[in-house]
Formats: sequence, C-alpha cells, structure tokens
Amino acid sequence: MMITLNPQEVDIPIENIIPHTEIPLLNKEKKMDHIEYTMKRFGQVTPILGNFEDGIFYVVDGIVRLEIAKKLGHKTLRCLPINISKEDVVKFRLTSNQRAKMSYSEMVKYAEHMLELVGKTQGKKKELLGFEDFDNEDHHGLVGKDRFELTCHLLDLPIKGSSLRKLMDIHWHEEKDDDSLGLIEGLDNNLFSLDAAHRLVKKDKKIQEKNLFKEWRKNEISNQAVWSKIFHQSSDDLLNLKKYRPNFAMFSPPYWMMKLYRNQGEMKYGQEPTVEDYINNCRKFIMSLIDIMDENGVIAIVIGESYQGGFKSVLARYELMLEERLDIIGKCPWIKENPTPSKVDGFFRPADETVFICKLKGGNHVFNPKMTPTKDGKKGIKNSHKSKNGGIRVFLQDEERVITNVIETPVCNPNEYKKYDPNFTHDAPCPMEVYQTIVESYTLPGMTAIDIHCGAGQGLEVFSQNGLNSLGVDIDIESVEFCRKRMSMVLGDDTSNDEIQLAA
Ligand SMILES: C[S@@+](CC[C@H](N)C(=O)[O-])C[C@H]1O[C@@H](n2cnc3c(N)ncnc32)[C@H](O)[C@@H]1O
Repeated sequence: MMITLNPQEVDIPIENIIPHTEIPLLNKEKKMDHIEYTMKRFGQVTPILGNFEDGIFYVVDGIVRLEIAKKLGHKTLRCLPINISKEDVVKFRLTSNQRAKMSYSEMVKYAEHMLELVGKTQGKKKELLGFEDFDNEDHHGLVGKDRFELTCHLLDLPIKGSSLRKLMDIHWHEEKDDDSLGLIEGLDNNLFSLDAAHRLVKKDKKIQEKNLFKEWRKNEISNQAVWSKIFHQSSDDLLNLKKYRPNFAMFSPPYWMMKLYRNQGEMKYGQEPTVEDYINNCRKFIMSLIDIMDENGVIAIVIGESYQGGFKSVLARYELMLEERLDIIGKCPWIKENPTPSKVDGFFRPADETVFICKLKGGNHVFNPKMTPTKDGKKGIKNSHKSKNGGIRVFLQDEERVITNVIETPVCNPNEYKKYDPNFTHDAPCPMEVYQTIVESYTLPGMTAIDIHCGAGQGLEVFSQNGLNSLGVDIDIESVEFCRKRMSMVLGDDTSNDEIQLAA
C-alpha cells in the first residue's frame, strides 16, 4: 500500500470536511467521551487525515474528532492531506486503528502534552510533578495524583499513574543531562524494568549531587582566606583556645617509650614509668581538647604501638580510654610502605600505626569521603548477578568509589618540611598524605582545625590546603618557631608573632 504523506497541515472550515465515502457510518465509539474531554482541555492535539479535493476534505482518520468539533462549535480543524486511493482507505483504517504496543518514548511524548508540561522550565516541571519529594507517595506535586491516573486512562497507557510519574522523572532526568544514560531507550528495548530504570535515576542523582559538592568544595577552597595561629604551650590545658571552637582536630601524640623529643618540659609526655600513667596523661590531653571543640567536632589521632619492654596493649588501652569520652567512628590501619628499620625480639618488623577517628558524643559530623577511581574509571550501567526470578539485575556504577579504611603510604619524606628550613629536624613527622586523607573526608572549607602536637607542621599545611583555619600547639619551642615560619611561607605572610593572622 502506498500512502503519500503531505507534510503540509492545513486548517479547513468544518463545513468543508466530510467523511470519506469508503468510511462506514459512525457507530458510537467507546472512546468518544475521552476524546471529547481531551479536545475540550487541550484542543486538537493531532491533525485528522484524509484527501483534499476541490476544497473538500474527505476524512479517512478522525471522524470522531470531526463529530466532536462540530458539537463543540469549532470553526476549523487541522487536516493533513494524505492522497490515499479509494481501494486503500479501508486497509489504512484498519492499520491506523490497530495500535502497536506503545513504546515508553511515545508514552513520555503523549503524557507530556496531557500533563501540560511542554515548554515548562525544569524547575517548574519538578514542582508540578512533585519530584522534589519523590519518595513520598502521597505527594504528586501540583499536578496531583489524579492527573497522572487520568492521563494514563485517557491515553490508554498500559501503566499506572505511579509508574507514569516514575517514567516522567526518568525522562526529565535524561533530558537535562548531556551525559544521558539512555534509560528511555533501554526501556524501549526491554533492557530493564521501569522500577529498575528509576532506581538508576535515583543513584545518578546522588552521583551528580556528590560531583556538585566536589566542585563547590574546590571553589570554596580557592576562595577561602585562611589564617594560622601557633601556640607554644603544653596542650593538656587548651582553655586559652576555647574561643576558636575548632571543628576538627588531628594529631599524633608522643608514643609511649618510643622517642625522646627535645624541650619536653616537666611532664615528659610519653616517658611515663607505666602504661597506665601514659594512658592517664593521654586522657588529660583528650579531655582538654574535648573542652574546646565544636559540639559536632571530629578528632583524629595517629598513634602506634609500643614494643619497648614487651607488648603492652597500648593501643587497646588507648582505644578504651577514647571510648569513655568520645564516640569512635572507626579506625584506619596506616601501613607504611617503607617502615624505618626497627627490631622487635621474636616478632616481625612493625610497619603499621592506627588512625582513630572519633566524634564528640552525640555530635553530627560531616563526611564526604575521599574517593578512588574504579577499574573502568567511567560511569555506566552494569549487570549484576541474576536476581531470584532469573532476570538480570542492573546497577549504576560511578566512575569512583569510597576508599577503603586502609591507608598505605611511605613514611614522611623530610623534603615535605625541609624546604622551609633545611636545618630543621623533627623526630617523628607524619606524612602529609595521611593528614590529607582524613582532612578532606571530615572537614568543609571555612572550618577551623587544630593540631595539638603540631611538630613539623605537617598537619597545619594540609589544613590550609583544604581551606581550613589552623591552630597549632607544641611544647617544643623549635617546632613552634619552625611552624610559624612554615605557615608564614605557606600563607604568603611574613609575620611570626605568637598569634599570626594571615590571608591565603
Ligand atoms: C609525634 S610528634 C608529632 C609530629 C607531627 N604530627 C608532625 O607531623 O610533624 C609529637 C609532638 O608532640 C609534642 N609534644 C610533646 N609533649 C607535648 C605537650 N605536653 N604539649 C604539646 N605538645 C607536646 C612534641 O614536641 C612533638 O613535636
């Protein structure tokens, strides 16, 4: 059958439109009510089809709409001449009335018209469709639940109103995204169910939020004017710093009986005669810190086991001490790729330390974890194992995922701090990478961070690189002076007072 479609639609007066002679007389079609409703509400959505000869339009498809237009008092109807032969009219009616299974892309197109969303902005659509609170089944936006159901009914869609809402959500999501996942196409090709596609959209929205956050963070860091203040004092009493209310603290205390630091004052923290005495001192430092922290503050402590005079479960005891005063969020083993040579009788070369991550009891801490690229390194829909009913389950894999809690780095490279003063030495600096992993995951630009044993200032520099104001405390005057110099250079200011206020 040959049908020549004339792309020219014309508005023809109703009185010049009559049914084609080959069309059987109109019997009461059951869709009449629906079509009348849509024509009243939306006007004529599609043209009627027929032959246009000598100023008369002979309708082949659209008799019901013609009748309704007359009833509603329309003056004209949009007509599309298709120049069909007499013999083909019946065949044409048969095929055009036989609706093939409607594809999801068609459903979207028709529903968009029905829901009066064509030409609306993304924001307006979201509001109309209630997408800002999608998981709330009772909230269907300004359009309302009934409209979704009515649309399904009027368009004779093979899905329910709630599914149409999901379908529209998928469609808008795809439409605004240059990097679309091809979900409507996937639905049309039966690659996954509507519910599965909608789950992918939800996951994708989360990924996009995370990426937006990352962008925001980067901008904030570069716009932040941060300051640094370094204090020469023992940090078992920090009351003078209470006004700063740090949001984040990270430090590494002297480990028990491991090193003899210079200028250690009377307390000689780390040289206590027993582990119990050591833990009691540790408690004092933790208590003085808790006193000045913001209520949602996070405290990260890098600490190693002591093997002097045999294994004494120092870390286990330290952990229990922490648990009394803080909520422990978790601990990260820090594995040194090139541990400094040290020998323990009857045991291997120790190569690990622990980073305890705690928060103030009952606090709400931020957590935007450091991510690492996946093997594929790109976002995409993946098949997972077969589901119970035999179908293939799909999931959306991001281009990156959360790092594990195991931190693996080389020990500190002295060049990290020597570049500020080649004559400065420190016995136990911590690599900046260890600080960086925790700082970027648990802080936001603009916060204030403290290192209560700042040593060579490894933490202080990382704080400023992450847009944080920094407070440093150490009992060793040489370390304090070095840190002041270092931070002056990092922040581009040469003041070196007890409290230096600097702009980034
Ligand atoms: C393990 S080091 C910290 C190194 C530092 N995290 C870095 O990366 O450079 C321990 C530091 O605690 C300091 N310290 C010892 N007793 C202290 C006290 N009572 N108050 C403050 N700091 C103290 C030492 O001077 C030493 O610099």
